[in-house]
Amino acid sequence: MGPYSVFADSDLLAQAAALYILEVGKQAIARYGAFTFALAGGSTPRDAYKGLSQMSSELDWSAVHLFWGDERCLPADDPRSNYRMAWDAFISRVPLPIGNIHRIYGELPPREAAGHYQQDIAKFFEMHPERIWQSAGKVAFPSFDLIILGMGDDGHTASLFPGSPALDESERWVVGVEHNRPPPPLVDRVTFTLPLINAAADVVFLVTGENKAERLLQVFKDDAEPALPAQRVKPVSGRLSWLLDSRAGLMLQDDAIDP
Ligand code: 6PG
Repeated sequence: MGPYSVFADSDLLAQAAALYILEVGKQAIARYGAFTFALAGGSTPRDAYKGLSQMSSELDWSAVHLFWGDERCLPADDPRSNYRMAWDAFISRVPLPIGNIHRIYGELPPREAAGHYQQDIAKFFEMHPERIWQSAGKVAFPSFDLIILGMGDDGHTASLFPGSPALDESERWVVGVEHNRPPPPLVDRVTFTLPLINAAADVVFLVTGENKAERLLQVFKDDAEPALPAQRVKPVSGRLSWLLDSRAGLMLQDDAIDP
């Protein structure tokens, strides 16, 4: 599952996450001249994104390319849109060229949006042949410099939900997902697939809240099948880390006390 760090509260976690993003971004820009950064949606990352905007002078935003690990099929200005959350939290406050924003067109039907998004990703990575790709079986997947993920209390991540056929996708980088049962919002989604996530150079989960504590214990301590979607995030050669607040990490710490 990769190492985890527990922070006293969500503010400290957000600050640590923002610093981590900055550090990985600087290294990617130094190495490749660009930073490919895939954002998570939901509510947890919001404060980390805000922290990023407060340190924005430390990053060459002209070299930052933003993608999303998933999106809800909603208009971009819908308050439940992952793009809208990131726009409000930091994109609107940093000097990021509009062409560097690789938004998922949530206003389209999921399959169409997924097809367009995969083409957009392919176009970027084909323009940067020096970048690393990971092979999984017969298929090559581009390696994002950093993918931020959240985890739902059901163990989903991105828009890969327990039992979803999307979990077994082995060729496409991005797929459309029908989503008509909890967790909300009950709208279709577009999501990175597991092989694309696992091709990344760096994957960081940000998890806060007591409602995630029991599921996190299962993620870290229970290897029963079928594995939870969050348990199936295992970067082929990249780094995996978890940043937790003390509420989400409560049971892990207890477990650590009584090994
Ligand atoms: C989404 C997210 C999703 C999220 C988890 C955790 O579109 O909802 O990408 O995977 O990360 O549901 O959400 P919270 O951070 O709101 O708990």
